[in-house]
Amino acid sequence: MNAQIWVLGGTGRSGRTIAAQLARLGLKAVLVGRDANRLHTAAQSSGSATLLVPSLAAAAAEIRQQRPAVVVNTVGPFTTTAPEVVIDGCRAAGSHYIDLANDVAALSAVYEMHDAATQAGHTLVTGAGFGVTATESVVAKLCEGRPVPLRVRVDMVPSIAMEEGIAGEALIGTLLGSLDGRRITDGRLAPARIFSDAMRLTLPDGSQVTTASMPSGELLAAHRASAARHVLSATSEAPSSPLIRAMMPALSTLMRWERLRSFTTRHLARVRVKAKARPREHSWGHALVTWTDGETREGWLRLGDAQEFTGAVPAEIARRLLAGEGRPGAFTPAALFGPTLAESCGAAYLLPRRGRR
Ligand SMILES: NC(=O)c1ccc[n+]([C@@H]2O[C@H](COP(=O)([O-])OP(=O)(O)OC[C@H]3O[C@@H](n4cnc5c(N)ncnc54)[C@H](OP(=O)(O)O)[C@@H]3O)[C@@H](O)[C@H]2O)c1
Repeated sequence: MNAQIWVLGGTGRSGRTIAAQLARLGLKAVLVGRDANRLHTAAQSSGSATLLVPSLAAAAAEIRQQRPAVVVNTVGPFTTTAPEVVIDGCRAAGSHYIDLANDVAALSAVYEMHDAATQAGHTLVTGAGFGVTATESVVAKLCEGRPVPLRVRVDMVPSIAMEEGIAGEALIGTLLGSLDGRRITDGRLAPARIFSDAMRLTLPDGSQVTTASMPSGELLAAHRASAARHVLSATSEAPSSPLIRAMMPALSTLMRWERLRSFTTRHLARVRVKAKARPREHSWGHALVTWTDGETREGWLRLGDAQEFTGAVPAEIARRLLAGEGRPGAFTPAALFGPTLAESCGAAYLLPRRGRR
């Protein structure tokens, strides 16, 4: 085992941000990628080392051989890249594993590897990006020392500055793979209408956003953090147009056809996005927790740019795993390190209201 931290997809938006955050913690990343020029440019800004590999399968083979202490996987869609490619390599090498998954299928696949990870004595941390970490942390904070609640709703409100470039297959593939509506009903994952349950939220800074349901990894993480019977995850990124909402059931059925989804992914991935300043000063994670006696508690996690937080969380987790602070098994970030992890990554809790509904 060598004491290195490898970042797969090291040339991407998230890979570069993670490398910069690792550098801030005094740790040097090894950026792993398939394009020598892009790798060189990315490594220069963070003082990282590089490893050029032709494919993810080749990266997994290098993991088995070189046995880095920690592997951070930023190459989505994670249902394709994580379990049988990268995690298998990490298990063989004894490397700890971190990813940025934020869809139900990808988180489920990692949870299913809990026993294998425990036996192998390594740690898997999935959902180490803004969405899962920000929302599950608020739920964990609100439920600390409390009985099991009846109902939980989590909302994520990211604020991200966009750099000019293409959307990319990792991001689009992940988005198109998360269009099936889901919620937790009576303790089980059940079908539900996507982009429903719209709620107008007044943020602690006084501004307002509308969130609507989207079945992301936040749903599973909030369920595990609370054990509530009913859980809903929502986001301010859900489209508000009634036309798009009405089209969603048909679109999600179409996206189940693998060939059509691959075709759509390839085309949308090439769409150029313009540089954009972040829409508001803060990003927010929000949770509303209701107990059987009607008590309701609301909480917020306030942070800056959501993409920066997506860099800070895996970097801090990697630092802790390298220092031997983890434990074997499969977890989401706050499930492993508790609600204080988000604070270590620069976020702050606001727990304003208690009441009965
Ligand atoms: N949980 C969260 O809150 C959160 C937040 C942000 C992002 N994410 C997820 O993280 C993932 C990455 O997002 P991003 O914005 O960083 O994307 P990105 O900028 O497009 O970067 C993706 C990286 O993956 C590499 N890659 C793509 N397909 C590959 C393949 N088949 N084999 C090997 N490498 C490949 C790219 O390398 P090349 O340069 O060689 O193409 C690039 O380095 C997405 O799935 C996204 O949904 C999650």
